[in-house]
Amino acid sequence: MGICFSIEDERRLSVSESSAKPKPAESADHASGAPLVPSSMNIKDLRVSAGHCNVDIFTYEELRLATKHFRPDFILGEGGFGVVYKGVIDDSVRSGYKATEVAIKEHNHEGFQGDREWLAEVNYLGQFSHPNLVKLIGYCCEDEHRLLVYEYMASGSLEKHLFRRVGSTLTWSKRMKIALHAARGLAFLHGAERPTIYRDFKTSNILLDGDFNAKLSDFGLAKDGPMGDQTHVSTRVMGTYGYAAPEYVMTGHLTARSDVYGFGVVLLEMLIGRRALDKSRPSREHNLVEWARPLLNHNKKLLKILDPKLEGQYSSKTALKVAQLAYQCLSQNPKGRPLMSQVVEILENFQSKEENDDGIIHNGGSSITLYEVPKDSNDSPS
Ligand SMILES: Nc1ncnc2c1ncn2[C@@H]1O[C@H](COP(=O)(O)OP(=O)(O)OP(=O)(O)O)[C@@H](O)[C@H]1O
Ligand SMILES: [Mg+2]
Repeated sequence: MGICFSIEDERRLSVSESSAKPKPAESADHASGAPLVPSSMNIKDLRVSAGHCNVDIFTYEELRLATKHFRPDFILGEGGFGVVYKGVIDDSVRSGYKATEVAIKEHNHEGFQGDREWLAEVNYLGQFSHPNLVKLIGYCCEDEHRLLVYEYMASGSLEKHLFRRVGSTLTWSKRMKIALHAARGLAFLHGAERPTIYRDFKTSNILLDGDFNAKLSDFGLAKDGPMGDQTHVSTRVMGTYGYAAPEYVMTGHLTARSDVYGFGVVLLEMLIGRRALDKSRPSREHNLVEWARPLLNHNKKLLKILDPKLEGQYSSKTALKVAQLAYQCLSQNPKGRPLMSQVVEILENFQSKEENDDGIIHNGGSSITLYEVPKDSNDSPS
């Protein structure tokens, strides 16, 4: 651990090297349901013992059987780190194993550098247990093979439903449920005694089960957050263009508020129904945040740019409040962004109040206070 590597993918960020070396992941006493882990494990340790509760070690042959020899028509998708296959682990794969549908990611990065991401996934995801984080069922690190076995998420990614699926009907209430679940996942990570920063929040990493419950996947870029009187951790800038917080891209200084910015981008994508970056649009609309954020506080302008697929399923009042939440998450000033625990509270409130909403629009673009911006912030909504 402790080395940096670049991800050679045009969507990916890998920019500057900070003076401080990334610290190796340390053990984290993750509260609320997450077991204690003695320390982060390396490849040598993980070949011998999974270390984390309920995580199984599979052989390459078992995973070959589970995916019917990595059949091309079992492919669920492909990301920057490899191909993801659907599979089933049952008695025919491992004697006595209860039949379980899984998603198996075969990492395509070879050598020591590729191990870093893979190890981060095993060490972070392996120790967490939360309804809004995808479960790591097991892994394989035989010879040069590096595979991860996750719980299967039947409805695929939010990205697919929002942008790719023809005739997709991602209703307003489904979007709000997904936003709340994803916010809970991030709040859990940030709320631990040693917080974890997720660093790769985006629609393709939010997976949906058959009932559209949302869970975060992909912990390859996750990082231990600042502790004690540290204000940030210094890292090489990594993530995905369009989602990374501006101050993080500029300085490499990582805080939990960088994830809040990424959450704001996804919330905006769900509201507007457009991708964070879209070069097929007119040039001033390429970057969704730059184009849409200034319009979020103007009732009439906002209603014009909301995703037409929503066909007015929302009350205007709630839509405005959600837009203002996105506005605050996308503040240039990290301290002007709410904490994820506050975002969860706000979204929970919307859900419970929505039925009583009368749909009245506020006149004149006046803002509704969702979250009190600290006094030293100079980026309050205009
Ligand atoms: N646990 C899972 N259950 C069902 N489908 C999955 C699962 N994990 C991944 N997938 C599918 O595989 C696709 C590829 O996932 P992957 O995480 O490798 O790449 P990505 O998120 O699209 O891009 P990136 O590499 O930038 O994270 C996902 O978009 C999703 O459709
Ligand atoms: Mg992913």
